[in-house]
Amino acid sequence: MNAGTQVAAASMESGVEPRSLTIRKLRKEYRPGVPVLKNIDLVIPGQGVTAIIGPSGTGKSTLIRCINRLVEPTAGEILFRGKDLAKLSGGALRDARRRIGMVFQEYNLVERLTVMENLLCGRLGYVPVWRAWLRLFPQTDIDRAFELLDAVGLSGFATRRADALSGGQRQRVGIARAIMQDPDLILADEPTSSLDPKTSVEIMEILARLAGERDIPVVVNIHNVELAKRFAGRIIGMAGGEIVYDGSPDGLEDAHLKRIYGGESWLE
Ligand SMILES: Nc1ncnc2c1ncn2[C@@H]1O[C@H](COP(=O)(O)OP(=O)(O)OP(=O)(O)O)[C@@H](O)[C@H]1O
Ligand SMILES: [Mg+2]
Repeated sequence: MNAGTQVAAASMESGVEPRSLTIRKLRKEYRPGVPVLKNIDLVIPGQGVTAIIGPSGTGKSTLIRCINRLVEPTAGEILFRGKDLAKLSGGALRDARRRIGMVFQEYNLVERLTVMENLLCGRLGYVPVWRAWLRLFPQTDIDRAFELLDAVGLSGFATRRADALSGGQRQRVGIARAIMQDPDLILADEPTSSLDPKTSVEIMEILARLAGERDIPVVVNIHNVELAKRFAGRIIGMAGGEIVYDGSPDGLEDAHLKRIYGGESWLE
């Protein structure tokens, strides 16, 4: 057992995972009286990949967006690193968001900027505004960006404009940008849904590997059940705004999938 594993094992034994996320009675109503999330209770482990699966419209994106407050929860608690994210505002909310990396289905890169500039956007929360304006990023940030470009298989792409990249290349930049933030948590909303099957596997591999090496927990919404089972240590199945499965990938059986997605003819 190496030192890192020992620390992880010790913190697991004592039940303290510093980056675990506890959601209590989380409720979201976009329209009063019509809950999209129905009092969700959930503990997300402080390491590894947790996949959220469920049919379209069931509230997966809403759940992820409540965590970093892109969507305002109607009620409930989101406890992370000693704070209730649901109650933060102003500077405290900005600080918390800075430490939460987002990876999106449509990449959300700044199209007219270079790959390097997009990566440095991940540092914006840390650099004084005037320095960012003048693009005066510390050399350590630039060095790290080059290292991450290597790690995601994009060495040599630093000066390429984002709008000249393929989908798979863009998502590699999206992941590298999220890691540049030094996040305590990465939220990924269908990061592979716009990609072909082979590229999807590559992207999930990169996300799981880079986050795993840094002990950053990842919560990922994903439609592809096979990908979820392959890369996640934990699967959350949602249906109708509620959690109907919460367990290991191995324990996820056809009966659960039927409960999550309804019907069964599609399983044959
Ligand atoms: N900004 C909004 N205003 C009103 N209703 C919304 C808003 N965003 C989402 N909804 C509704 O909330 C429900 C859950 O949407 P959400 O996007 O969270 O589902 P999802 O599980 O992510 O679906 P998909 O798999 O298609 O991405 C849907 O009925 C949707 O129409
Ligand atoms: Mg969604």
